[in-house]
Order: sequence, then C-alpha cells, then structure tokens
Amino acid sequence: MLRTRPETAAWRANVARVGFVPTMGALHAGHLSLVERAKRETDAPVVSIFVNPTQFGPNEDFTKYPRQEAKDLATLEAAGVAAAFVPSVEEMYPPGDRMRIEPGEIAEALEGAARPGHFAGVATVVAKLFEIVRPDVAYFGQKDFQQLRVIQTMARERYPAIKVVGCPIVREEDGLAMSSRNAYLAPAERAAARVLSRGLFTARSAWSRGERHPERLRARVEEVVETEPGVAPEYVSVADPLTLVELKLPANRAVISLAARVGKTRLIDNVLLGMEVSDLK
Ligand code: PAJ
Repeated sequence: MLRTRPETAAWRANVARVGFVPTMGALHAGHLSLVERAKRETDAPVVSIFVNPTQFGPNEDFTKYPRQEAKDLATLEAAGVAAAFVPSVEEMYPPGDRMRIEPGEIAEALEGAARPGHFAGVATVVAKLFEIVRPDVAYFGQKDFQQLRVIQTMARERYPAIKVVGCPIVREEDGLAMSSRNAYLAPAERAAARVLSRGLFTARSAWSRGERHPERLRARVEEVVETEPGVAPEYVSVADPLTLVELKLPANRAVISLAARVGKTRLIDNVLLGMEVSDLK
C-alpha cells in the first residue's frame, strides 16, 4: 500500500502503462468493474481510496461516509490490483496548499447546482491524484455522469496525455445503481429506491419505441417515481450528453439523469440514450 507522494513516485518509476481508478472506498461491484477494465487494458491497475473533504458540502455526509479501509484493501488484493494509494488528508492538502481547479460551465447544472463547490472539490482532488499517480488511462463510472464529463473536460485541457474512460453503471438485481451510499438505506427505503431505475428504464423503453421528445421522456420517469411516496425527486433532467444542456427539442442522443431523496439519503442515477458511455471522450 502507498501512503505518500514519494512512495507513489518510486512505485510509478518502475511500471509502464498505469490504469487508475480513483475511489472514496466502501468498495462494491461498481468500483470493481472499473478495476477489471483497468486490469484488462493496462499493465498496472492502481486504485486510490480517499474520502475527499473538499467535495462535501457543510451539511453533507463527510463524517459519516462509510470507511472500511482494511476490508477494501483485502478486496483490492483479491482483485489483483498492482497498488493501492491511500493518502491522508494532510498528504493531499498540505498546509499552505493553494491548488484549486474551477471546472467551468460543465459543472454548473444538475449536481453542480444542487451541491455548490462539489465539482471544484472533485476536479481539484482528481487533478492532484493525476499528478501523483501519473496514469496513462483513468477509469470513471457513468453512475456519476456529470463527474465523468467534468473530468473528461478537465483532462482534455490540462492532462491531454491521460485518457479518461467512462464505464457503464453496475446495478443490483432489481435495478438500483450500486453506490456506497446505499448502505444508509433502511429496508423500506431500499425497497422504495427501486422506482428510480424503474422510472429511467421506462423512459428508455419509450426511447427504444421511438420517443424522442424531451418533455415526454421526462414525464415517463416522473410518472413512475411519483408512485412511491417514500421517494422525493429533486430533479429529472433530459440533457445533451456532451454539454449537459437541457434538451428543448427531440435529439438523437440524450442523458436522462435524476437525483432524489429516499429518507435522508440522496441518490443519483441516469440512463444514456442513443450512444454508449465508452464513446465519450
Ligand atoms: P466513488 O463514489 O467512490 O466512486 C468511484 C468511481 O466508481 C467513480 O468513477 C464512480 O462513478 C464509480 N462508480 C460508483 N458506483 C458505480 C456503479 N454502480 N457502476 C459503475 N461505476 C460506479 O466518485 C467518487 O468516488 C469521487 O468523486 C472521486 C472521483 C474518487 C473523487 O473524490
């Protein structure tokens, strides 16, 4: 395990193509799908585990975010990763550190609007991690679709040598997108949360039957989500997958994304229509 920048630099000097999977730990099959892809496509898959304080708002779950380092390290060892980078907060944000990335327009809508400063925190920590790990390829999940687009936009401008690959959402058997935050759900909430993916899949079926109108696609999602009183939607967005600008007119590709509260837990999910996540660059 690597804890510091110098340890990581020494490790990096001896490996050829590095595939990087940044995480906040509490690893599940979604994270491991990224690891498998990194293993297939590069010589040395490396995973970071760091619960990044700067991407949490003051009233969010930074202190109670699940932390299970020993279990995660055993999982990564069993998965055959070459190295785990597990820095402290001081290692990532040393005293006097001023580095901060402003992610720009792509970060303004949706999660960026709901969580002010969130994507500046994400972009900043990912930039720091990129500079420490110096990967050839970095893997991000479609689960956090806007995050993927923020990182791809940043990498294009600042780290053009790093390829940022998007990987499909891994779901539970009933459709719920895997997430470390699902651990917060009480059994009744866990059951109610099913309507989120069901709503998105209903819209996806409409799309496959030819529906292209953004308002009607949004209505398909909302109709399903509204059947569950235990779920309070925050937004349902039908947007252009490249820019995340809301669609006003029928288009030949779209991302439908949503955020909702299930009890106190905030969940997000999305479906990509008319294109594959791996086509995004
Ligand atoms: P975290 O939520 O731990 O997620 C790490 C990576 O796993 C992200 O790229 C995320 O999109 C992906 N992921 C999570 N659930 C997934 C699922 N069900 N299917 C596929 N991929 C999934 O995202 C973060 O951490 C942080 O913001 C981070 C990028 C590490 C910066 O702190």
